[in-house]
Amino acid sequence: MARNSWLFILSMVVLLLAGCGTRVIDGQQVDKKDKIIIKFSHVVEENTPKGLAAIRFANLVRERSKGSIEVQVFPNSQLFKDGEEFEALSRGDVQMIAPTTSKVAQLFPQWQIWDLPYLFDDLDSVHQIMDGPLGRTLLEQLRQKSMKGLAMWDNGFKQLTNNDHPITKPSDLQGLCFRIMSQGILEEQFHYFGADTLYLPFNDVYHSLEEGRAQGQENTISNIYTKNFDQVQSYLTLSQHGFMGYAVIVNEEFWNQLPSQARELLETTLAEVTLWERDIAKKLNDEQLSELQKRNKIKIYTLDSQEKRFWKEDFALVYAKFVQENGADFLNDVKQSIDLAGNR
Ligand code: LMR
Repeated sequence: MARNSWLFILSMVVLLLAGCGTRVIDGQQVDKKDKIIIKFSHVVEENTPKGLAAIRFANLVRERSKGSIEVQVFPNSQLFKDGEEFEALSRGDVQMIAPTTSKVAQLFPQWQIWDLPYLFDDLDSVHQIMDGPLGRTLLEQLRQKSMKGLAMWDNGFKQLTNNDHPITKPSDLQGLCFRIMSQGILEEQFHYFGADTLYLPFNDVYHSLEEGRAQGQENTISNIYTKNFDQVQSYLTLSQHGFMGYAVIVNEEFWNQLPSQARELLETTLAEVTLWERDIAKKLNDEQLSELQKRNKIKIYTLDSQEKRFWKEDFALVYAKFVQENGADFLNDVKQSIDLAGNR
């Protein structure tokens, strides 16, 4: 066994003997009942950035804690759907969730910053905010509801699908009904161009599209591909119009009663997995786009850079809603921070 591992076990035993914690995190020396179990619930398939990162996190934690911390991953809304996850976390039915930033925005409206169309031109701009003081301010807000934000993960940029006609300009949205994952900015983004919206949990999207309750939806390539939306949608526009990422959240009370070594192990591992997740998110979205092209079930239209500029100008009108609700300061700070990093 590596020297570091022995040191780790030794420090845990010393801690126990010193009566500093109620649990230890060395699987070989504790009863099953003392094992730390973390139920991690999410709503997407396993072969997605979030799905794979959750599994990697669970494996690394098991290995590094010698089995005394067990992260049990429940993908695909197996335990709880969107909309149920926050309550399940606060009841302690699960200890960890990773909802999209848009879903967090239902509780904390400033999180709608991530939904503003074309605010972020690329992932570097997104990470500039996520990793800086503004991102930390957002995560800190979660404590108002006894949650602790541990990390933010990527999925990527959203694209538009529908089963009625090709969408090449914002006015093509008119008359269609789009499934949205949260209310507020995302609603506004469609309503502004004469489209209707239907607010639904992720695992109801396929059927709503199949049954024609919604004609379209916005999502990342990874979610479109792994949920086979191309079987029930005819047109995909690569619009890259909005970012979709995740907040990795724990129940704060649960977190605070963990031994500090366990918290440290979880935080360090999560930080490492977060960097890995960013790479895999980009890679998966690229690979799965090629797979969609190969399957050839959905007609793909790619906005060129000039079209994107027009979309960006039109969609800027949606920002008024954010400013009305949250004031202009936070938005200006975010824009300035992106500008300063030279990413615009
Ligand atoms: C959606 O509802 O479309 C997404 O939030 C699913 C997810 O978690 O990626």
